[in-house]
Amino acid sequence: MKVTIRVMRFNPEVDSSPHAEDYTIDVEPHDRVLDALLLIKGTIDPSLAVRRSCAHGVCGSDAMLINGVERLACKTLMNQVASGDDAVVRVEPLRSMPLQRDLYVDQTTFLENYRSVKPYLHPAAAPPEKEYLQSPGQRAKFDDPTKCILCASCYSACPVIAGKNPGFIGPAAVANAARFIFDDRDKGVGERLGTLDTPDGVWACENHFDCTRVCPRGIKVTKAINQTKRAITSFKEAGHQTV
Ligand code: SF4
Ligand code: FES
Repeated sequence: MKVTIRVMRFNPEVDSSPHAEDYTIDVEPHDRVLDALLLIKGTIDPSLAVRRSCAHGVCGSDAMLINGVERLACKTLMNQVASGDDAVVRVEPLRSMPLQRDLYVDQTTFLENYRSVKPYLHPAAAPPEKEYLQSPGQRAKFDDPTKCILCASCYSACPVIAGKNPGFIGPAAVANAARFIFDDRDKGVGERLGTLDTPDGVWACENHFDCTRVCPRGIKVTKAINQTKRAITSFKEAGHQTV
């Protein structure tokens, strides 16, 4: 099939603002959008800046807007976004992060917010002599957010970050906090909730569900945020202080 890939291009050295460029190429219906972009880069314009690493939906590098929706280019087939010959597929960089070049955005704030929730185990005491024991039920409580690949699709899709509160730490940061808050081996609740229990923390979320809709890993991100809100409330009602 013949399709036109309309790529938003921006070279900070020569452009004052981004502009669309069209590339008409032959693709197979089951080619991925990443294949199309690499074909353009390899045969038409080697200057096209596109991030990718694993090409199999694992690393989260190639999240972008495809026809206006956050998706991984390596997990999106042409026949999912283009119907028939002469279709136009729009490819743009993620939103709410500074544009660097073409499809590159600066993820510094997104990653700093992730780090701010201390996304690692805070054990209460010295580790057991052998392994930690955990039941399947205890493991299931935090299984969903372990699937996060930090692709930043949720951050890009969040209307709160794009609108009234650009300082919101964002859905991925909260989901990754939940991954530890609901892990019974972890005792860093107070320290972590102190980061989250702020106007830019969990309380900025307004339950728009866009994060859940776009997450390429199918994580119930909004549910994790609401569970974290309830955990903060219970923690404080129990008389604990956040720090
Ligand atoms: Fe990507 Fe989903 Fe993780 Fe957000 S929660 S960064 S959309 S994998
Ligand atoms: Fe790794 Fe797409 S290139 S997720």
